[in-house]
Amino acid sequence: MPETALPAAAASQEAEITAALATRSVVLVGMMGAGKSTIGRRLSARLRLPFVDADAEIELAHAGMTIAEIFASYGEPYFRDGEARVIARLLDGGPAVIATGGGAFMREDTRGRIRGKAVSIWLKADADVIMRRVKRRADRPLLQTADPAATVGRLIGEREPIYQQADLTILSREVPHEKIVDECTEALHIRLCGERAEAPPDKATPDKMSVTP
Ligand code: S3P
Repeated sequence: MPETALPAAAASQEAEITAALATRSVVLVGMMGAGKSTIGRRLSARLRLPFVDADAEIELAHAGMTIAEIFASYGEPYFRDGEARVIARLLDGGPAVIATGGGAFMREDTRGRIRGKAVSIWLKADADVIMRRVKRRADRPLLQTADPAATVGRLIGEREPIYQQADLTILSREVPHEKIVDECTEALHIRLCGERAEAPPDKATPDKMSVTP
């Protein structure tokens, strides 16, 4: 549906979100395969904000080298420092919808910057969903292991306690993308504007919002 055909209530909900954000961005965090770029792009269209993919920005800053090539040539610590710098720069250029790489939120300095300059959404996906999606692309350096499923399980265990610190949680699952975007928008509205706005009473909970299939 073209954006101009959005119901008036939805359009005003989105306008209220962007007004409340002011210069702050919306930052998507979560595991590889959680859908941060796919949902982020659609959410940005919904909110009429620019979309930026932090991984793509890192590749641009390295003259088009891929993330895998950067890992292979310079190592993970170098990549992580570059990633933190790129995200700091993107946050300074807000408002935007920013998709981060799965490891970015692990850094305390990056989490602090995101807290100060953005509203964060954890796209939470379970291991099966992640594995199905990451199998479609073989270019993730952290999954070049003998047992990628075990690696994903370990990373989920290490990272979920940190991802939980995000402002909002949305369950990423195999439903139409626009449904996940609806849930992000609704949760942002509750968080930023403090009201439920058109949602049926059992559909949303303030602050943390997690929807089961
Ligand atoms: C990583 C996730 C990747 C990319 C890099 C490291 C991670 O991004 O930043 O391969 O540590 O989880 P996506 O989450 O967009 O796949």
